[in-house]
Amino acid sequence: MDATKYQLPESALPERWYNIQADLPSPMQPILHPGTGEPVGPDDLAPLFPMALIAQEVSQDAEIPIPEPIRDVYRLWRPTPLYRAHRLEQALGTRSRIFYKYEGVSPAGSHKPNTAVAQAYYVKQEGRSRISTETGAGQWGSAIALACRLFDLECKVYMVKVSYEQKPYRRSMMRTWGAEVVPSPSEDTNAGRGILQEHPDSPGSLGIAISEAVEDAATREDTAYSLGSVLSHVLMHQTVIGQEAIAQLEEAAAYPDLVVGCVGGGSNFSGLVFPFLREHFAGREVDVLACEPAACPTLTRGPFAYDFGDTSQLTPLVPMHTLGHDFVPAGIHAGGLRYHGMAPLVSQLVLDGLVRAEAYTQNDVFASAVTFARSEGIIPAPEAAHAIHGSVLAARAADEEGRERTILFNLSGHGHFDLGAYDAYLAGELEDVALPEHEIERALKAIEPLPKPALAG
Ligand SMILES: Cc1ncc(COP(=O)(O)O)c(C=O)c1O
Repeated sequence: MDATKYQLPESALPERWYNIQADLPSPMQPILHPGTGEPVGPDDLAPLFPMALIAQEVSQDAEIPIPEPIRDVYRLWRPTPLYRAHRLEQALGTRSRIFYKYEGVSPAGSHKPNTAVAQAYYVKQEGRSRISTETGAGQWGSAIALACRLFDLECKVYMVKVSYEQKPYRRSMMRTWGAEVVPSPSEDTNAGRGILQEHPDSPGSLGIAISEAVEDAATREDTAYSLGSVLSHVLMHQTVIGQEAIAQLEEAAAYPDLVVGCVGGGSNFSGLVFPFLREHFAGREVDVLACEPAACPTLTRGPFAYDFGDTSQLTPLVPMHTLGHDFVPAGIHAGGLRYHGMAPLVSQLVLDGLVRAEAYTQNDVFASAVTFARSEGIIPAPEAAHAIHGSVLAARAADEEGRERTILFNLSGHGHFDLGAYDAYLAGELEDVALPEHEIERALKAIEPLPKPALAG
């Protein structure tokens, strides 16, 4: 029987991040200044981000060295294990081989610290002393709170109010690592106060929380803004995942013909698949699948268009698949996948036909999550469960076609703070929300006046 777990020594920790921009078949569309409609330059972004990250955002170098202090923190949990899902395969009765890379072993419980640590390092290097950010369900907030602690930075987290109330333990983690956490919309920013005035009972949304965190950083010199997904440098920091996976699969004498990840803003997906796409550009075939919730079907039902990254229209215009910046997704339990937009890099790869996407309803996703938990043991984050479900469907389809596939998916985090969602599923109380076309059409009206990208798919 083949091994169950493939672990690399610390000495195999990647020394470079892979920057897919160097190899893209079509160039990225520029990010635009909303006032002028012109591409944004480094000076526009400097109030928010350290120069090193702005340089990474537009770099065309295929590889960027990972500074040693970042690798030193990565060593706390990296390289992460790669598993062969023998027991899941048995439970499904599939002839396909299924592997998964497990990012839930980080202290925060997900892939998010891979970029949080890098971002905190560069903020510190540049001499700022504080980071502001937003968080939905709290995964990103806890990652950045941890990273700020390790690099001795202050941290303020605007947490979507409904999660702040429903997920007190993520809040506790952030505070244990020393961060200040406020429910968003808050009284601390103009954006927050404006929304509270109109909607005193607003449950908040990621778009609103981003507006607050951006305003916070833009109005204080000591503060940088930090985003947990979407931006190209964030996706690049995650590529340690795929690089390790390639080395681990070599030990298993395997290579995937299907690589699967869930997509919220696109970072864990990109972290796993970009190094495989690099192989693909060099001639090694691979099928790449992005899994999203049917309640927030950005890639499968949203157009490729320019849109704001936030609700209050404070960010630059980003070329991406979007449902419109005032689209508020239904309150599904995969909080990290409730974002109206998608990383420009992932959006571009979908346009170019290198990545395909599927959308699933949450009861189906939880059914696969429970099958996984009962066979492999790990209780997955609801976000990651989308990748499990995509893999399960692919294995079943392969069996029906009489094919044997080698499937690799990213298990981006554990679900230990999402047990309320499991309770609801097990009690048969989870709702599958249908998203009517007219709701998407309504939300997309908000982007009609905005500039259109040159390549619209
Ligand atoms: C465990 C987990 N997976 C996936 C995501 C989605 O984000 P991304 O698409 O950037 O990986 C999140 C976001 O919070 C998350 O917590």
